[in-house]
Amino acid sequence: MKHTYAPIGLYSLCKPLLFRIPPEKAHKLSLRALGLAGSLPPARYVLKRFFSPDTQSLSLFGHTFINRIGMAAGYDKNAQALDGLEGMGFGHIEVGTITPKPQKGNPNPRVHRLPQESALVNRLGFPNDGLDIIAKRIESYCNRRNKRYSGPRPILGINIGKNKTTANAQAYLDYKECFTRLKDVADYITINVSSPNTPNLRALQSEEELEKILTPILDIRQKSASHVPILVKLSPNLEHNTRTGMIQKLVEWSVDGVILSNTTKTSHPWEGGKSGAPLHDATLSLIQETRSRFPNLVIIASGGIGLDGDLQTFIEAGADLIQIWTALVYRGPYLLRRL
Ligand SMILES: Cc1cc2nc3c(=O)[nH]c(=O)nc-3n(C[C@H](O)[C@H](O)[C@H](O)COP(=O)(O)O)c2cc1C
Repeated sequence: MKHTYAPIGLYSLCKPLLFRIPPEKAHKLSLRALGLAGSLPPARYVLKRFFSPDTQSLSLFGHTFINRIGMAAGYDKNAQALDGLEGMGFGHIEVGTITPKPQKGNPNPRVHRLPQESALVNRLGFPNDGLDIIAKRIESYCNRRNKRYSGPRPILGINIGKNKTTANAQAYLDYKECFTRLKDVADYITINVSSPNTPNLRALQSEEELEKILTPILDIRQKSASHVPILVKLSPNLEHNTRTGMIQKLVEWSVDGVILSNTTKTSHPWEGGKSGAPLHDATLSLIQETRSRFPNLVIIASGGIGLDGDLQTFIEAGADLIQIWTALVYRGPYLLRRL
């Protein structure tokens, strides 16, 4: 079925203005505004008062989530707007993708809107400030947050990847480095092997490659005091048998869950990863199918989520949590209360 995302409330007035600005600039602007709002207590109150959804908490892999709605990876890649995203009432926020070394990503323009489809196509290629800088930013956010109050807070996921210049044969070292530095500051860590915009990254989606990446990480986790949950984010473009075989292995290795899925690879009208409304039905089927095969696996749904009532729809399909990204661009911040 073809779905579209209509803007909600006052966002109907802001959206045409925002859509006159190139997509990546508009995104940077919204990040800056959220970062600023998050740093001012009265503005944080306003965010909470207008956008924050009902709290219906749940316990999952040792954490209490205040609600099941999360901000997907790639929105706040560099951990610059965590206070603002917290103010909006997200139950969890996934920072990243972070790579060991800073990198610029692909040349511009690298994000496009497809308004008729309520979709985006991006080929960013993990631009980010690098592990050291972002880890310090996250630590300083955690200190601020702990000083503010000791009450419920969003769960902080950190999504890690490899640098473009790292060959696949050495990729496990990049994941290991990120994991080692971030394991004590993250509430969960996502191994991202599914972005279509880093050459050959998706070739890491095999039992053999994942074993090479996960063995040292699981070993470090076993020896450390904190048992940080580990998730793997997969592509929606995998063959059925490859995907189920891989998930079966993840379960055997005691990986805590999966994120289904990332953007879908496209080459028309632009090369990159497509996100938004066109992914909705495929994500739903994938969640239903995965849940029926793996009744005890933690599943986070991502991809095309953003219609009114989608939270219930995806929970009934078998998701434990949902994440949003593109729908926020088309529908605005009131979306959290409509899901
Ligand atoms: C501009 C943009 C950048 C993204 N960057 C990342 C990223 O760095 N890491 C990642 O795992 N997913 C990234 N994603 C994928 C999202 O996290 C999400 O899985 C995908 O967009 C599908 O959800 P949606 O249809 O709600 O947007 C990005 C998505 C967009 C639109």
